[in-house]
Amino acid sequence: MPEAGLIDIHCHIIPGVDDGAESLEDAVRMLRMEYAQGVRKIIATPHYRKQYFETPAEIIKRQFGLLKRAAVAAEIDIELYLGCEFHVNMDMMEILKERETSTLAGSRYVLSEFSGNSEPSFIRERIYSLLSGGYRPVVAHVERYRAARDDISLIEEIKEMGALIQVNADNILGKEGFGTGRFCRKLLKEGLADFVASDCHGSERRITRLGEAFDYVRRKYGSSCAGRLFIENPQRIINK
Ligand SMILES: [Fe+2]
Repeated sequence: MPEAGLIDIHCHIIPGVDDGAESLEDAVRMLRMEYAQGVRKIIATPHYRKQYFETPAEIIKRQFGLLKRAAVAAEIDIELYLGCEFHVNMDMMEILKERETSTLAGSRYVLSEFSGNSEPSFIRERIYSLLSGGYRPVVAHVERYRAARDDISLIEEIKEMGALIQVNADNILGKEGFGTGRFCRKLLKEGLADFVASDCHGSERRITRLGEAFDYVRRKYGSSCAGRLFIENPQRIINK
């Protein structure tokens, strides 16, 4: 496992606000697992998705406060920041303006989730809209989108526009299928990924394997590549 502190910018560790941590105890177990993986900073990113996950921001902030206090009480040395995984929609510019805690750690970076079958034109147009509004989209687990899998040039194109690309640790490790793993390795090889994050949802299922993915990337693509994807680029979000 890494000596330097990794930064996880995508995880569902706030209890009782989405389909992630089920209880405070579960969340504390997840924190310990993150620590064991070498993670020292976390941006907690509960889902926001119209009609599916619309937990009021006040409740998210309250639950986040509980988690922070529990981390201190359990003496787990991880800095916690509040963020969101924002499922992109046509009203997002208004929602981003009105809703607190929609961005990553109070920055202009938006962890932007699309549907598996989103059309390339929709992805392009929504990225453009975010950028025009002064936000910096970080496309969540890009390897899951059919449009990106079918045509990798879509990723090159949105990166040129100014979007950043996040890949899930589990997918790099091939935990969600061989084809997805191969696609992730292609992204890494071609230098198209900007972040690797755990997207962990619990202490038993969809667990964090960020340190394992770091070791894998370091072995295969070198220390400076791993440092960029797991530490330096994430730190830039925290620095704003
Ligand atoms: Fe997620």
